[in-house]
Amino acid sequence: MNAALSPLRLGPLTIDFPVVLAALAGYSDLPYRTICRELGAPFATTEVMLDKFLLQEGKLRRHLLRSDAGDHPVGGQIMGADPAIMARAAVILRDLGFDAIDLNFACPVKKVVSRKRGGHMMADPEGTLEVIRAVRDAVPDRPLMIKLRKSFALGDEACEAFWTISRGAWAAGADAICVHARAVGQMYKGQADWAFLRRVKEAFPDRTIIGSGDVRTPADALRMFGETGVDGIAAARGAIGNPWFFRQVGDLASGREMTAPTLAEQRAVMERHFALAVELYGEQKATFVMRHFGISYGRMHPHAKRIRMAFVAVRSAAEWRAVLDEHYAGETVPAV
Ligand SMILES: Cc1cc2nc3c(=O)[nH]c(=O)nc-3n(C[C@H](O)[C@H](O)[C@H](O)COP(=O)(O)O)c2cc1C
Repeated sequence: MNAALSPLRLGPLTIDFPVVLAALAGYSDLPYRTICRELGAPFATTEVMLDKFLLQEGKLRRHLLRSDAGDHPVGGQIMGADPAIMARAAVILRDLGFDAIDLNFACPVKKVVSRKRGGHMMADPEGTLEVIRAVRDAVPDRPLMIKLRKSFALGDEACEAFWTISRGAWAAGADAICVHARAVGQMYKGQADWAFLRRVKEAFPDRTIIGSGDVRTPADALRMFGETGVDGIAAARGAIGNPWFFRQVGDLASGREMTAPTLAEQRAVMERHFALAVELYGEQKATFVMRHFGISYGRMHPHAKRIRMAFVAVRSAAEWRAVLDEHYAGETVPAV
């Protein structure tokens, strides 16, 4: 429990620290959620999953849906446009033990938007509300979270769709809205509009608003709380490769000195992460996944560029471990 930041309310669920691990395709799988939790993340969300894949048995479903006893509370995130399919997918998540249902209306990936899913829904407020209502009706007994962007089109400063969807979502019984303060058309570029987050919080003072966008450092998180008044923050790119992020925000918020992980600590966490990935994926796939993570972890290392190059060249588990042996043997404390 952190004295300086208030708990985060997700309907009946209270999360005792308000900085959570965002839904991150390619990153917020069970192994990384476990690592982040062990370092202070109180809540985490799966990678986005296509609703119809949840209705099918298969490899994708098995990996993306994997959770375990330590992985709670956890949100399961789904994406789709058909209210009936989304509702069935939400029921499956609930029955599998997910603690909260998260609906993604924010994904800007072209292939997704062109198929009228994800961020496309920001251009279809009525369709979005039908999905929200169907899911709420189907799963009345779990917190319902909605992920929105500020608008669909870049330059749409009225953000009418946002206001229509958010008001309708509260009326339908949603428990929290996570706002990525960029337009769908902006993808991940340009600055996130924190003034918009402030407007949203002012418009819905008694509702749970989770802010997202440009929280790259622990100091950014405190600044977002201060400037916008949001109730929670979904740490995304700032937490990729820095699972210590959550602990660091807690340190800063409590007025303690923010500690950076030593190389020995980084190595221990990376080794544990590798072992968890092997458990989930088997060694071959884990090596591929962990090459990707190794590159991200590398940014915590004093010689980030060198580490990046070393992980990019990795082709086997033995080579992955050799990078640790070569570069993570010292005890140097990297600068934060
Ligand atoms: C690699 C990557 C994958 C993402 N995957 C998801 C996802 O599956 N679901 C989701 O709601 N948002 C996803 N996002 C968006 C983030 O959760 C977050 O809203 C966005 O990155 C803005 O925060 P940031 O500027 O602090 O990174 C993803 C972002 C990135 C960079």
